[in-house]
Amino acid sequence: MGRPAVPAAVAAALLCQLGLSAAIRWLGLTESGSRVAWNETQHCRLLAGLVPDQFQMCRRNLEVMHSIVRAATDTKSVCQKTFADMRWNCSSIQRAPAFGPDLLKGTRESAFVHALAAAAVTHSIAQACASGELPLCSCGSVPSEVPGPDFRWGGCGDNLRYGLQLGAAFADSPLKSSKLRTQAIKAMNLHNNAVGRQVLSDSLETKCKCHGVSGSCSVKTCWKGLPNLGEIASDLKSKYLAAIKVTHRLLGPRKQLIPKEMDVRPVKETDLVYLINSPDYCTVNLQLGSLGTQDRQCNKTSVGSDGCNLMCCGRGYNAYTEEMVERCHCKYHWCCYVVCKKCRRMVERYVCK
Ligand SMILES: *[C@@H]1O[C@H](CO)[C@@H](O)[C@H](O)[C@H]1NC(C)=O
Ligand SMILES: *[C@@H]1O[C@H](CO)[C@@H](O)[C@H](O)[C@H]1NC(C)=O
Ligand SMILES: *[C@@H]1O[C@H](CO)[C@@H](O)[C@H](O)[C@H]1NC(C)=O
Repeated sequence: MGRPAVPAAVAAALLCQLGLSAAIRWLGLTESGSRVAWNETQHCRLLAGLVPDQFQMCRRNLEVMHSIVRAATDTKSVCQKTFADMRWNCSSIQRAPAFGPDLLKGTRESAFVHALAAAAVTHSIAQACASGELPLCSCGSVPSEVPGPDFRWGGCGDNLRYGLQLGAAFADSPLKSSKLRTQAIKAMNLHNNAVGRQVLSDSLETKCKCHGVSGSCSVKTCWKGLPNLGEIASDLKSKYLAAIKVTHRLLGPRKQLIPKEMDVRPVKETDLVYLINSPDYCTVNLQLGSLGTQDRQCNKTSVGSDGCNLMCCGRGYNAYTEEMVERCHCKYHWCCYVVCKKCRRMVERYVCK
């Protein structure tokens, strides 16, 4: 009514863009999201990358947006750290919310990033509850397990249950709302999001604190807490390496994700799945979302994925020396400072041809 009419063609183009884009456009919140205070509902409107259901959630539950922005930031940095030694090194995640084919199509890489992002939202909300940041939740409930003989439940555990509830609603909503994305990609990423949350749930561990005279640990209180996101990412990386290629087809009354190879076991709820093969990421091919490995640093002695042989795809490498300046010969002076010298050291570096 008060709004200017949007020409149909523009609307269609916008919808189309939304439909084709990944369900992880919210990872683009790192820039826009850190610029606002999240104390007024109109802040939700400023953000590109949110789908209608996410807007609604933002308006109803503004405080949780800090956790979501943090989850976006963590997903980006942890993904890049976890894949630093691989040909595909997750650098394309920086382009969020505008991704390339490596993350828009049904690839393994997309499977990993969706799972990690879904785990990150839940992780971030579960910990925000425990730290008292959110008005609608607090510490996780006391575990139903009987405590061991040497401790009692206490402290404040991460609220995994609330994290799962809100995190799933947020991370899965783009996959449930858009009608334009293909059914297969939706099913794939809904599955992978759930894998991320399952791996996170399985990682919940007992953490303890000692009390008692001079650290004697005669009294111990324990609670359930989540490890840092890096550990979750490294579990998910193993699952990425063992991911199962599937097709989405009718099996009985409904469509399901079924392994493409006949001899592969059925898909479990902790298996990442993908639909299309990835390129080898050796050479530049922007159509396929491959940046290539030219000029990537490699390790001459490693036989792993960061070794020059694998990283450079057999093209060979160039060596150069770099001067490193380090603190060395440090001496402690009474009381209380340390004086160090600066040492220069030449190190050999190798980059792919
Ligand atoms: C929101 O936070 C900003 C910065 O802290 C402040 O200037 C503004 O007045 C706040 N708005 C409301 C409605 O509290
Ligand atoms: C990741 O790979 C790209 C493409 O090869 C490269 O430009 C970038 O520097 C790499 N990032 C890191 C941290 O190695
Ligand atoms: C290279 O790889 C070897 C063997 O895996 C490892 O011991 C060494 O620390 C690596 N060097 C660098 C610079 O990462």
